[in-house]
Formats: sequence, structure tokens, C-alpha cells
Amino acid sequence: MKILGISGSPKKEGFTNLLLNEALDGARAGGAGTDKIILNDLDFKPCQACGGCDETGVCVLSDDMRAVYEKLEHADGFIIASPIYFGTVTAQLKAMIDRCQSLWVKKYILKKGMARPKSRKGIFICVAGKDNREYFESAKKIINIFFVTLDVEYAGELFVCGTNKMTNNSKKLKDALLKSYELGLSLDKI
Ligand SMILES: Cc1cc2nc3c(=O)[nH]c(=O)nc-3n(C[C@H](O)[C@H](O)[C@H](O)COP(=O)(O)O)c2cc1C
Repeated sequence: MKILGISGSPKKEGFTNLLLNEALDGARAGGAGTDKIILNDLDFKPCQACGGCDETGVCVLSDDMRAVYEKLEHADGFIIASPIYFGTVTAQLKAMIDRCQSLWVKKYILKKGMARPKSRKGIFICVAGKDNREYFESAKKIINIFFVTLDVEYAGELFVCGTNKMTNNSKKLKDALLKSYELGLSLDKI
């Protein structure tokens, strides 16, 4: 089983990546193989709405998303992680999701399934600086639409707010890391 972790955070040492790494550790402890994409390291354009995928369900842009599509279609499970930026997921993650318009066309217009037809599950990890959980709702809606398009069941979530006042030694972070590990581990029960 291959679990794909996707980070929408540009900060490699930030809370998003700390939690994602822990969840991937959990997934590996459950026997899964893991792969991780840090979107900020990739070079790709946002969707150009060119209609180039309308007839084929394949994006015509030639950039780093090519390899991402391959992984999105074949992964057995997903762990998507993002900070809240201005009330929702980061631009990096939203740009990747928008580029999945070609997969949306493939599914809903061309009525073709994903390359991997069996059911698969995904979890969403999200962090916010302020102590306000409302931000997570808009982010969750986006991830839900993304998961439905990819035939992925929304199987779990970890939302951690108040990172502005959180230190690397805080109990809140330690608790969150443990929960993240357990979430990753739970993916083996697919
Ligand atoms: C551009 C930008 C926008 C942000 N917008 C919000 C926001 O709307 N609400 C919030 O609670 N925190 C906001 N934050 C704070 C981040 O969510 C917080 O610092 C988070 O821990 C960043 O993730 P990281 O630790 O993985 O880098 C913002 C931070 C940045 C850089």
C-alpha cells in the first residue's frame, strides 16, 4: 500500500511538515510505503483554463504537475497537510488542486475512472496561527471537493489552531504529533 503525503506549506520546519512527517511515520509503522510531495519545491503553473484537457482528461501543460498526476492517480491513500493562509489552504495547495481540473473532466465529462479503481481514503491535517477553528471549515470544503474528484473517502482530520503561540516543546504540540501519528497509522485499516 502506498500513502502519498502532500504538503502545502512553504516552511520545511513548520508545524504542517512536522505533523505530516509524523502521520507518514505512523503510516509506515502500519506497514504502508510512503511518498511525500512538498508542493513549494515544484515548478508548476496554476490552471490556465485553456480547455486543453476537455477532450482527453489530460492536462496539456508540461511542468512538474506531470509527475504529481501520476502519483495522485495511483496512490492507495492520501495525507494532505496545509496551513491556513488568509482563511483557507495555501496557494501552493490550491494551485495543485485547480490543476486537477483535468481529472475532474476525466471523471465527470468523459466518465472515465481513476487509474486506481479501488476505494481509497484520505486524511487532512491543517494548522492555523490564531486560536480560531472557524478557518478550518473553508479549507475542509476544498479538500472534500478534491477528494471526491479523486474518488477518495474523507476518512479523518487533524486541525490544530493557535500555532502562533505554540512552541516546539508545548504539550499541545506533543499531543498533536501523537494524534497525527495515530491518524497515519489508521490508514492501514483501509
Ligand atoms: C500568508 C499567511 C497568511 C496567514 N493567514 C492566516 C489566517 O488567515 N488565519 C490564521 O489563523 N493564521 C494565518 N496564518 C498563520 C499560519 O496559519 C500559521 O503560522 C501556521 O502555523 C503556518 O504553518 P507552518 O507552521 O507549517 O508554517 C497565516 C500565515 C501566513 C504566512
